[in-house]
Amino acid sequence: MAPMCGIAGYIGPRKAVDVVFDQLKRLEYRGYDSAGIAYLNGDSTIHVLKRAGKLTELGKLLEDGSPDSGLAIAHSRWATHGAPTDLNAHPHFDQFGDIALIHNGIIENYLEVKAELMAEGHVFRSETDTEVAAHLIGREHASGLTLEESVRRAVRRLRGAFAFVVLSRREPEKFVAARNASPLIVGLGEGESMVASDVPALLPYTRKVVIIEDDRVAMLTRDGVVVTDLEGRPAPYEPMTIDWDVEAAEKGGYEHFMLKEIHEQPLVVRQCLAGRLDEAGRVRLEQVFSDHVWQEIDRVNIIACGTAYHAGLLGKYLLEMMLRLPTDVFYSSEFRYGDPLLSDRSLAVFISQSGETADSLAALRLCKSRRIRTLGIVNVVGSSIARECDRVLFTQAGPEISVASTKAYVAQSLVLQLLALYIAQVREMPGIRVGELVQDLREFESRMDRCLILEPQVQELAERFVGAPLVFFLGRNADAHVAREAALKLKEVAYVPTQESPAGELKHGPLALIEPGTLAVFGATDPEVREKLASNIREVQARGGFVLAVTTDDDTSLDGVSEAVIKVPAGRSSYLNALLSVVPLQMFAYHVARLRGCEIDQPRNLAKSVTVE
Ligand code: G6P
Repeated sequence: MAPMCGIAGYIGPRKAVDVVFDQLKRLEYRGYDSAGIAYLNGDSTIHVLKRAGKLTELGKLLEDGSPDSGLAIAHSRWATHGAPTDLNAHPHFDQFGDIALIHNGIIENYLEVKAELMAEGHVFRSETDTEVAAHLIGREHASGLTLEESVRRAVRRLRGAFAFVVLSRREPEKFVAARNASPLIVGLGEGESMVASDVPALLPYTRKVVIIEDDRVAMLTRDGVVVTDLEGRPAPYEPMTIDWDVEAAEKGGYEHFMLKEIHEQPLVVRQCLAGRLDEAGRVRLEQVFSDHVWQEIDRVNIIACGTAYHAGLLGKYLLEMMLRLPTDVFYSSEFRYGDPLLSDRSLAVFISQSGETADSLAALRLCKSRRIRTLGIVNVVGSSIARECDRVLFTQAGPEISVASTKAYVAQSLVLQLLALYIAQVREMPGIRVGELVQDLREFESRMDRCLILEPQVQELAERFVGAPLVFFLGRNADAHVAREAALKLKEVAYVPTQESPAGELKHGPLALIEPGTLAVFGATDPEVREKLASNIREVQARGGFVLAVTTDDDTSLDGVSEAVIKVPAGRSSYLNALLSVVPLQMFAYHVARLRGCEIDQPRNLAKSVTVE
């Protein structure tokens, strides 16, 4: 499985291997851990080069000069499952060695398809879902179908979120790319065609591109591209000219990585949930502890830093409210020096985007030395925390480049929701409507998508409040935890002083800081406590403060009560409603920072991964 990998492919008069290697280099900034190339050079064999590690390792295989070839495909893998090894690196072959395939994304039903193919005698070399897709396409191709028809049939059969690029030694004048959710862009040149997962890889060769849509198959030849739907009917497309420079292209046309990553969140939701919700409306988590362990655990300690700590706070809310499972959340630095109370039946959960944060790693080692069970919720596969935890759930959010974390937070919080539901299933807890919550998770991607259209409204609010000398972030229950994360975003990227606290605590101190001009942002997605919040809003206003409320779109109670209201699409779960409200607040921090001329992707004094104490 490999979401957010780099994909490249080329057919034309240039040395194709050199082109695709260069294209991979141009995707390097996104991070990866292994890479590979497949090419044809006229001898009816597919040649494959692949190596774990950096591109320089793969480059060593080309040191004696690159082979002559007019058709090559290439891949840089950012592992989310399966170690970054030579074997797991793409491309993968079919049963007959007729086709080679590279893949970005997750195939959900690969086990079922794999079983069917194995019953027919197919032998698999790797554990990857990618190889299953290669075999499926290869089987159709061997029955006499063209490469593009074989791909269409396979895509119709597969579920998940993915993009493929495939070449066949039997049809050396073309290659085929297919998309279902993962990004895929075709580049059109003079007598040459190419494909990539991201624009920067295409820019040195052409500026004329076609963005391939979901459920489309593109057949590329030297003369251009033919795009069809999954039934083989021609699909209309509009080539466009990209006028971005390389730097803008790396950011997907966005001005900053932070904004790009905010906008990637619907896709992150999809990738994070892929393969984890089954048809029967249950949560499926692979490689976690066996059932008796989940029955035995009587306390959870969540340990993390920064944004990951804030996701941990949401996790505590969920595990305690939903499962009645006592949970504490610790800053890693406090935990490791705090002589923590740890019982045999406790579970230590480490949340980390990078998997390398020094304090979190030290806290993990402390737990291990005390023989406490450990579970990681980690984004970077192969990182220290991922390797050293007893079990890991990967967040599958793809590389996060902006120092201020956005999409990783959403993915961490979703994994916590999956975990809570999984434990509820194992414990067969009556009263928890797993099916209903799973349905809510399924709808989360589209709700997240709808949140993004709030941006013009958020931008106006940023303009209106950019001068606020102090911004409060308040809420109750899950909203209070999201408020802390929203405050951290504004502090980190816009350098605006913030004061965050549960709304009920306002009177016990923080209220003293409210002056005319102070802005108070209220997370108000939880209807159970909205009335209480309305009194807090009035307390702020009575002292000359302005109020910006973030609520759900089924609520009208705050219209006219607060100076400004942002509404996110409502769902059933209060946890997910609160989580969704982080999106406009991430945007708010971003736009305030932009107006203040801050270094958004690399805020002063901060680092993406804190590997020292
Ligand atoms: C740094 C980053 C934060 C991050 C924190 C924890 O402070 O700037 O964005 O939340 O470290 O990092 P981790 O990689 O462990 O999630």
